[in-house]
Amino acid sequence: MQQRGAEPRPTPEAGRPARLRFPDGFVWGTATASYQVEGAVTEDGRGPSIWDTFTHEPGRVVDGTNGDIACDHYHRFREDVATMAELGLGSYRFSIAWPRVVPTGAGTVNQAGLDFYRRLVDALLEHGIDPLATLYHWDLPQPLQDAGGWMNRDTALRFAEYAQVVGAALGDRVPTITTLNEPWCAAFLGHASGVHAPGITDNAAALTAAHHLNLAHGLGAAALRSVLPATGQVSLTLNLSVVRPATDRADDRDAARHVDGLANRIFLDPMLCGQYPVDVLDDLRHITDWGFLRDGDLATIHAPLDLLGVNYYSPTLVAAATPELEQRTSTRWVNDPQGPDGPARYPGTDRAFSVPQAGPYTAMNWRIEPGSLTELLVRVHRDHPAVPLMITENGAAFLDEPGPDGVVHDADRIEYLHGHLAAVHDAIVQGVDVRGYYVWSFMDNFEWAWGFSKRFGLVHVDYSTGKRTLKDSATWYRDVIAAQGVD
Ligand code: FCB
Repeated sequence: MQQRGAEPRPTPEAGRPARLRFPDGFVWGTATASYQVEGAVTEDGRGPSIWDTFTHEPGRVVDGTNGDIACDHYHRFREDVATMAELGLGSYRFSIAWPRVVPTGAGTVNQAGLDFYRRLVDALLEHGIDPLATLYHWDLPQPLQDAGGWMNRDTALRFAEYAQVVGAALGDRVPTITTLNEPWCAAFLGHASGVHAPGITDNAAALTAAHHLNLAHGLGAAALRSVLPATGQVSLTLNLSVVRPATDRADDRDAARHVDGLANRIFLDPMLCGQYPVDVLDDLRHITDWGFLRDGDLATIHAPLDLLGVNYYSPTLVAAATPELEQRTSTRWVNDPQGPDGPARYPGTDRAFSVPQAGPYTAMNWRIEPGSLTELLVRVHRDHPAVPLMITENGAAFLDEPGPDGVVHDADRIEYLHGHLAAVHDAIVQGVDVRGYYVWSFMDNFEWAWGFSKRFGLVHVDYSTGKRTLKDSATWYRDVIAAQGVD
């Protein structure tokens, strides 16, 4: 592993096949999400979402910013799609803002909101780029939150209605529709640590939300199937973790099992196997009685899936909640934008801490360790061999600003992406069915509680003018796509 600022490894020369060549048909893409890029939050009938409310509350976002304008993708999408075409992208993963389509979350459909996504999809298809649309990337309509949000079972039913509207309107032109993005973040960062909207800090609420998100996935998948053409694919995206114990002690190993349950299996097992893991149910009985789980829910959640999207950035190291650690620990939570600089409580549990790891790091303080992605993919494939995988997000934030020549020379991002692509290739060689890879992100954007302070893009965005400039990593990725792999 090279350190930040080191020279990137060479990209394949034009015309010469890459040494790590990906299978024919492998999808090369980039990803964004509605609230992070669109802006235009009050235009054409869009209703407010929980992220509009949250970002306008003082102290929620480190730099005090919000997504009111963001990258202005709502108005500049044609320019952005043209850039994607220049890079040779085969697919663009974006999300649909529920409050654009159903402004109050239930009932009346806003045709103007749907029309925006129709224009976006048409522009992509005109350039030969496949759209991959996610229905829920965290921007819940505020009126649904006012009625209890994901703590209210009814939200899952409203989600299914919305899924059906989008499926009927766009399903003929969008080959794959994803129900949810990262329900772990929505449940645990939104309701346990509270660093994401709606900013609730209640472990029991987080578990209720997790179940209702699972239910929304199942109901949403069925609603999509009822309107999609026979070729239409339904997928789901999870942020899966490689969870390691801080020491070989039995209590730390048990903490790792416990966190693996909360981070991975609480979603994977009901969605892909139709059951909650017994150890997860048992571990959390002092927090919840699971009374929100109703007969028939698990069969609904266990909906047939065409593809499982995996978002992956960094491995997790955890320790048991011993009295010594309690003493050393601030009240911070994992993913708290203010920290953590020491052990931090793992969202949704009082039994485990996340502990800092050795570098190298990205600008998020996330450890860079590409091999852990291979480990994750091999494990998911071993546990769930029938479902094809897609890397729907992978990438890195670095402190990149244009140099005197106006260009961002982001050798560190190239190094990160190169390492992780090699890790994906390694998993494929080991027999894992990985269908494609989407860089997070196409362009710099509003990074949730971090505001505009973290840049993940292949394309630099000047937030005062909206001007886009390709970083070195964008042209590197273009060459990778052309060579169908990396050296
Ligand atoms: C993921 C989110 C995405 C972005 C990246 C950095 O958890 O899905 O919106 O914030 O992290």
